[in-house]
Amino acid sequence: MNDKADATEADLALKQKHRAMWAQGDYPALASELIPDLGAILVDACGIKPRHRVLDVGAGAGNAAIPAAMMDAEVVASDLTPEMFDAGRRQAADRGVELEWKEGDAEALPFPDNEFDVVMSCLGVMFAPHHQAGADELVRVCKPEGTIGLLSWTPEGFIGKMFAAMKPFAPPPPPGAQPPPLWGSEDHVRGGSSATGSPMSTQQSRL
Ligand SMILES: C[S@@+](CC[C@H](N)C(=O)[O-])C[C@H]1O[C@@H](n2cnc3c(N)ncnc32)[C@H](O)[C@@H]1O
Repeated sequence: MNDKADATEADLALKQKHRAMWAQGDYPALASELIPDLGAILVDACGIKPRHRVLDVGAGAGNAAIPAAMMDAEVVASDLTPEMFDAGRRQAADRGVELEWKEGDAEALPFPDNEFDVVMSCLGVMFAPHHQAGADELVRVCKPEGTIGLLSWTPEGFIGKMFAAMKPFAPPPPPGAQPPPLWGSEDHVRGGSSATGSPMSTQQSRL
């Protein structure tokens, strides 16, 4: 088998592990209890308006997607882990909104080019291991004059520090995988740090 096929196989295996991890326990309940306000904060920052076509990447149970739908936007909630969607559908019904739920990897989004007015991700795309691939997809599916909005844990914050504390006890990440909290560094996202490999050029970084 050639190197590229090996890499693809390793990547699929890694994504399966990620999906299994996120499907364990009850993440939707945890999100409702611990971070219920973050989705609405991101929706507000993105300036979502009625009839905007909106994609939420790594949507989980709709922490950001549901508040976006409540703005009368046309929302697609996409996630690697469709096990989250039933909880999301229940939460959406409780709040009187409908949205589309679609399984998808942030690094290979199942949508055409230039499809959405707003592409947002609340603590979602940051967990896709290849930052450039994730960033390229956010830009590809967003209209040229659209908005990309990200809400990410930072390396300096509590969660970033917790990841750093756990790192010595975890298996080494596969080649090419980058740490999630780097998405919380504007320098990394905007392209200022060549040491970390930056996912978005300054021109592409719209929010
Ligand atoms: C911390 S949760 C955030 C969920 C939701 N946005 C929220 O605010 O509650 C991270 C989400 O990213 C999803 N995720 C992880 N890796 C992904 C990938 N490669 N592509 C798409 N979603 C991914 C997980 O399944 C999970 O739902």
